[in-house]
Amino acid sequence: MKSLTGNEIRESFLSFFEKKGHTRVKSASIIPETDPTLLFVNAGMVPFKNVFLGVEKRPYKRATSCQKVFRVSGKHNDLDNVGYTPRHHTFFEMLGNFSFGDYFKEEAIQFAWEYLTEVLQIPEERLLVSVFEEDDEAYRIWNKVIGLPEEKIHRLGVEDNFWSMGETGPCGPCSEIYYDRGEKFGNPQLGSPEDNRYLEVWNLVFMQYNRDETGKLTSLPHPNIDTGMGLERIASVLQGVSSNYETDLFMPVIQFAEEVSGREYNPENPKSKETVAMRVIADHLRAITFLISDGVFPSNEGRGYVLRRILRRALRYGKELGIERTFLFEGVDVVVDMMKDAYPELIGNRGFIKGLVKAEEERFIKTLKRGMDILYEIIEKAKKEGRHHITGKEVFMLYDTYGFPVDLVEDIARDNNFGVDIGEYYKLLEEQRERARASWKSQAKEVKKIYIELKNTLPENTFVGYEKFEVEDSKILAVIKDEHPVNILREGETGEIILDTTPFYPEKGGQVGDTGFIEGDGFLFEVLDTQTPVEGIIVHKGKVIYGTAKRDSVVHCKIDIERRKSIMRHHTATHLLHAALRNLLGEHVKQAGSLVHPEYLRFDFTHFEALSDEEIKRIEELVNQEIMANHPVVCKQMSIDEALKQGAVAIFEEKYGDVVRVISAGISMELCGGTHVSRTGDIGYFKIISETAVASGTRRIEAVAGMKAVEHSIKEHFLIKEIGKTLTAKEDQILDRIESMKLKLKELEREIEKIKKKSVVERITQILNVKEKDGHKVAYGKVENLQPNELRDLADVARAKLGKSVVMLASIDREKGKVNLIVAVSKELTDRIKAGEIIKDVAQILGGKGGGRPDMAQGGGTKVEKLEEAFRRFTEIV
Ligand code: ALA
Repeated sequence: MKSLTGNEIRESFLSFFEKKGHTRVKSASIIPETDPTLLFVNAGMVPFKNVFLGVEKRPYKRATSCQKVFRVSGKHNDLDNVGYTPRHHTFFEMLGNFSFGDYFKEEAIQFAWEYLTEVLQIPEERLLVSVFEEDDEAYRIWNKVIGLPEEKIHRLGVEDNFWSMGETGPCGPCSEIYYDRGEKFGNPQLGSPEDNRYLEVWNLVFMQYNRDETGKLTSLPHPNIDTGMGLERIASVLQGVSSNYETDLFMPVIQFAEEVSGREYNPENPKSKETVAMRVIADHLRAITFLISDGVFPSNEGRGYVLRRILRRALRYGKELGIERTFLFEGVDVVVDMMKDAYPELIGNRGFIKGLVKAEEERFIKTLKRGMDILYEIIEKAKKEGRHHITGKEVFMLYDTYGFPVDLVEDIARDNNFGVDIGEYYKLLEEQRERARASWKSQAKEVKKIYIELKNTLPENTFVGYEKFEVEDSKILAVIKDEHPVNILREGETGEIILDTTPFYPEKGGQVGDTGFIEGDGFLFEVLDTQTPVEGIIVHKGKVIYGTAKRDSVVHCKIDIERRKSIMRHHTATHLLHAALRNLLGEHVKQAGSLVHPEYLRFDFTHFEALSDEEIKRIEELVNQEIMANHPVVCKQMSIDEALKQGAVAIFEEKYGDVVRVISAGISMELCGGTHVSRTGDIGYFKIISETAVASGTRRIEAVAGMKAVEHSIKEHFLIKEIGKTLTAKEDQILDRIESMKLKLKELEREIEKIKKKSVVERITQILNVKEKDGHKVAYGKVENLQPNELRDLADVARAKLGKSVVMLASIDREKGKVNLIVAVSKELTDRIKAGEIIKDVAQILGGKGGGRPDMAQGGGTKVEKLEEAFRRFTEIV
């Protein structure tokens, strides 16, 4: 058996299949670009799903890849096992070979056998296989063609040997290849939970069906092959170690965890706290690094929520190892160094990933502290209420609002002899997950059946809108109304038209769809939007203005040219902005979303902090310099590899191997399918309008170009002029004027306050309601908006003026809806009458509290409407 490193295995697999006529395809992003049914790519076949379904065509029929996959949700979810078993991971690499209606079972089995036994030189006697119980053909191939003895071919049921991507999608029977680790692991049943002996290394799926929402299986247009071999598992076999974690694909990260914690990793004792914790950290660090690199950022829903959870899970296991500080961000370096040869994108993203991880770690540590404080408050409150458990709602609030881990709540509760209503918590959590699922599902668009059918029956639509704004003799291939193909669309009706040739750009890559008109014999159709629901089909949505639009008519179509020109200006400006950001802020800046509209552009990108005014100014200057340089905007077609080699910035990675368009304009070079001006000077002028935060680590710039930028500047200019006029100040004096007005205003406010107080003091005896009683005076009265200290001064004045007396003053603050109270008692009376006691009694009526010394006490309440009652009570008790 060969001993190979992870990197060597990856390369040997891909080149083996290349020699067998397969096209090597780069791993797609972990974020499924075109599949709304999945949160993450969970198998090597996912990027090819539409090819299996026959909806998409590629220039090859055989492919091989090493795909980044992530299994934390949906049908394939391994998260809870991670750390506790030798080979479950959240993130791993899946080696695979694929046939799209080309070879089938026999060659797939032969290829796998040849690779394992001849290239990797795994001894034949170490290998055994399983097949789907009804699959006699696969059984025969293993037995007769490969020559595997019958006792080494196991028939297993649907559970083990029927593979499907998710609840819906491509599926089929499969055959798994196992590696026998030897008799020292006993004699377990193949695939049973106790089975430590037979290690499943490769799954060959004979993909023949598609499963729909109702669970019904229909045959795919042609039979396919999809195989998957976990790189980490096969590495553990070839490197002769007992778990994936001891391979060179994990060990550097484990060693990192050992160094940071000063504890020891011991594979001999896989259940020990240290071993489990280091495995979790190693797994999660790899996952975190790749997720962020592919554009997932921490958030409270969808993918970002998963990232946040595993990052916090890793930190928690760090805590188990006694690590109290931020440390994961340093581990990112270890992962990047280990993986950068196979995934060069990690190099450019390194700084960004580290920064984001560190920020998230800091946030969590803060969160833990705040959560702890709140948890102790909850416990105190519960004790007072005589309750000895924490409710599910409280746990959920701690978790959901503060990200406070549940097991920590349980620990702390236990220390306080408290119970936790964990059932209710899980119920609330499930409800919240449901909401999260609904939110990412509704964002994604499922391709409607009608368009798939049309794609299969119609010729591919030709887009000529790069060069032309108008086509004289296009033909209506299809008319759609309410999601059904129809022959005609009458005057006033809304519907959709598909043309064989069109100048209308369908919304794509952030650029909005074109609008315009389609004119035919006796009818006019207004196009309000253009979309491409499935590759190759362009749908013009709109309304018949007059006449009847008919299928097969020859038509003249024309887009709204002014609008499109404005879109093109904004699109090229977006590229220049992107390049300027990367030039001035750094290579970590990555497009995270974009909208190109005739009125403005919106550009989301990865960066940790708000841009300073200086940075915004420099970006605007650089973009405008590029505009003034009037560079030609050049569009070239080339292979993606060539494009990347030349340094083009790629954003949409969904098309591999295909020819891509590369747009170069001055400092910018980008892969893009959109429409652009022919020279940068056509943009005219570029102006940033705002810079804001979208999510943690993501910023948003909104900007305008061309006439829109000019209009914006004119508007701003006149606004400033108007302000100047109102202030009777010249432009450069406006700020000074506002400053001095602000000062003046403050001064006046102070003045008014003083006058008000003085007047209250002067009128105090008139304000008070005074009575004589047992040789002293009893007085009360109300004023407005006095602070407690001012009220005290006033009470002093009143008492001095009245002589031997008991005085109560109330100050009403209507804005805040509350009353401040004060009671003052002359020294000679305090042995009989105590201010503190009076105020306690009276404040209660106002729904508040009070207290103080016998001669002076303060209090208040919020029931302003009960003030008269409070005064009555005061006279009663005094
Ligand atoms: N798609 C198959 C799997 O993931 C190969 O196991």
